Amino acid sequence: MMRILFAFLPRLWTNWLTLTGSILTTFAAIAILIVVFGSLTAAANPYATALLLMGLPTVFVFGLLLIPFGLYRHRKKYGDIPPDSVQQAFIAAARSPAARGRIFFVGVFSIVNIAILVIAGGESTKFMDSPKFCGTTCHTVMEPEWTAYTRSSHSRVDCVRCHIGPGASWAVKAKIDGLRQVMGVITGDYSRPVPTPVHTLRPSRDTCEQCHWPSRFHGTRVALFPHFAQDETNTPAYNAMVVRLGGANPGTGKHEGIHWHVSEDFKVSYQYLDEKRLQIGRIQVVQGGKVVREYNLPDLKGKVLGERTMDCIDCHNRPTHVFDESAQAAVDRGMHEGKLDRQLPYLAKVAAELLGKIDVPRAQAKDHFRAAIVGAYAKLQAEGLPADPTRLTAAADQISELYLRNVFPEMKVIWGTYRSHLGHGGADGEMIGCFRCHDDTHEAKLPDGKVKKLSQDCDLCHEAVAEDADPAEFEDTLKALLPMPFPAQAKKAAPAAEEEEAE
Ligand code: HEC
Ligand code: HEC
Ligand code: HEC
Ligand code: HEC
Ligand code: HEC
Repeated sequence: MMRILFAFLPRLWTNWLTLTGSILTTFAAIAILIVVFGSLTAAANPYATALLLMGLPTVFVFGLLLIPFGLYRHRKKYGDIPPDSVQQAFIAAARSPAARGRIFFVGVFSIVNIAILVIAGGESTKFMDSPKFCGTTCHTVMEPEWTAYTRSSHSRVDCVRCHIGPGASWAVKAKIDGLRQVMGVITGDYSRPVPTPVHTLRPSRDTCEQCHWPSRFHGTRVALFPHFAQDETNTPAYNAMVVRLGGANPGTGKHEGIHWHVSEDFKVSYQYLDEKRLQIGRIQVVQGGKVVREYNLPDLKGKVLGERTMDCIDCHNRPTHVFDESAQAAVDRGMHEGKLDRQLPYLAKVAAELLGKIDVPRAQAKDHFRAAIVGAYAKLQAEGLPADPTRLTAAADQISELYLRNVFPEMKVIWGTYRSHLGHGGADGEMIGCFRCHDDTHEAKLPDGKVKKLSQDCDLCHEAVAEDADPAEFEDTLKALLPMPFPAQAKKAAPAAEEEEAE
């Protein structure tokens, strides 16, 4: 055995190409073994690991290819010297038992080599499918999505479950797409922000619906919408809605409510007139392969860019990358959750104003907001308003947390960059979310000649059970939905109101 090895080795040294090839292959093989079996993958910096796992197999294969290439060139140049050549042995293989042994030797090593490659390849795909790789390798680019993901209800769902789904063909597609993206990141040639919607996203049937059941009956759900006025007492004004989620009603077997759109019996397909899919042209309701209703715009302006069958993502476009839609909305949520101090006078106003500045470098956010809040309250304090410094600092830290969740200046992600399609925005006439279609303008001709509009009837989707209400006055069932009670606020607000009345 040893003699065979020594007989073969000199051939690896006959020319510099073959020599380089064998050195590269050997080092790459050893490095791969260390990475794979040393379980470096778990602890190390993901960028370095990714480079190793992608780079090493490439070096390995390159080296392996260099060996025969060098031998081939060498032979072309100098003829077949030295005479003890593997080439000759191959020709004489059938006759010479020594050569057969050598072929066996090369064969065994090739199998070992391939095994190393497969292990390394498998390990690298496994690592490349992990959220840590997807979310942190191209740190700046993915920072907004990663940050939002880690605090969402899907933070334990791997990115690939929603972005790729099961099956080899989509995985290959994603890897090819990924290569283009890696080039983009290396050359700095990528869009800021990352565009949405993702036009190549897989239909939700193969992603969301692996875990969620489209016809599941959700019935109704009570949702609270907290708002706080920009006044001295941060006066709360809550809306509460019974939202008609629906699904397949177990009593009637019929699909109803909001989840009607994803029923198994109907399909809703629509034409979109812009890349963002905010302007909707013709909408068709399809039952059993036949169009049963067709909604058109009386005057359609613009070009049709494509057609799409509605699925979960046409409404749930932010199931995991959840951002607050405005500075005001972030403050409302912060106060609702009790993170922002509701007792600190004018905090809703001050916080929303401070958060409106969208070019504070993320690394300096904490210091910036601590200084800014002192500045903002200086005037109020001069007017005799008490403002305890420790409470100001605590509030500033909460404000910078809201900022860090939502604003990413390097990626040009600011308030409202990634808006949710759930709901329909404020009362300012925006046609977003549900109102892209339910705009009171799309109309269908029914068989009986009547015209049906996709209406904005306020009771179609929900029923208001409280409007601009003070949570302290909620009835008990609604009170139970509050993450923390409101007594202190109510006690403080009440005497103030009485004083006003007394004056
Ligand atoms: C629960 C499913 C789900 C998971 C898990 C998930 N995503 Fe997404 N992602 C989506 C959806 C849905 C969209 C928006 C698609 C659309 O509107 O077309 C999206 C959009 C994106 C976008 C485009 C920009 C944007 O915000 O719209 C990026 C980048 C992205 N995801 C990265 C990631 C990364 C990285 C991970 C893992 C750390 C991840 N996603 C995990 C569902 C998911
Ligand atoms: C791997 C399984 C899995 C996949 C894939 C998945 N989800 Fe979920 N989803 C869950 C689990 C588990 C919960 C419950 C989380 C909790 O209660 O904290 C959940 C909760 C939700 C909720 C309710 C909570 C919320 O955030 O409002 C919605 C809506 C939702 N998923 C939509 C989607 C959509 C849309 C997709 C596809 C883009 C999707 N899910 C993909 C497992 C999954
Ligand atoms: C027409 C828009 C629309 C479509 C399409 C849609 N949903 Fe929803 N869904 C909603 C709304 C609105 C809510 C309630 C709002 C919220 O959760 O903030 C909701 C709530 C949910 C919830 C939470 C239910 C609960 O009890 O709190 C889940 C889970 C969910 N949807 C899953 C899905 C899945 C899976 C699909 C695709 C098969 C889907 N949805 C399609 C609009 C839609
Ligand atoms: C792409 C267009 C489109 C979008 C976006 C859309 N809808 Fe619809 N919606 C329709 C169509 C079409 C119908 C069916 C009208 C009919 O029966 O002819 C409908 C019907 C409904 C119905 C009545 C279902 C029933 O029981 O018959 C509800 C409730 C509803 N939508 C709620 C919503 C909500 C909530 C949203 C936003 C989260 C939304 N829709 C977004 C197109 C849309
Ligand atoms: C096509 C369905 C649909 C129609 C029609 C509709 N809404 Fe809504 N509305 C929604 C959905 C969905 C939400 C958000 C539910 C969620 O996030 O859980 C919502 C939320 C709201 C909220 C709470 C938002 C907040 O921040 O306080 C108010 C208020 C509201 N709607 C008022 C109205 C009024 C007024 C009308 C009639 C002009 C109307 N809606 C018609 C679907 C609809």
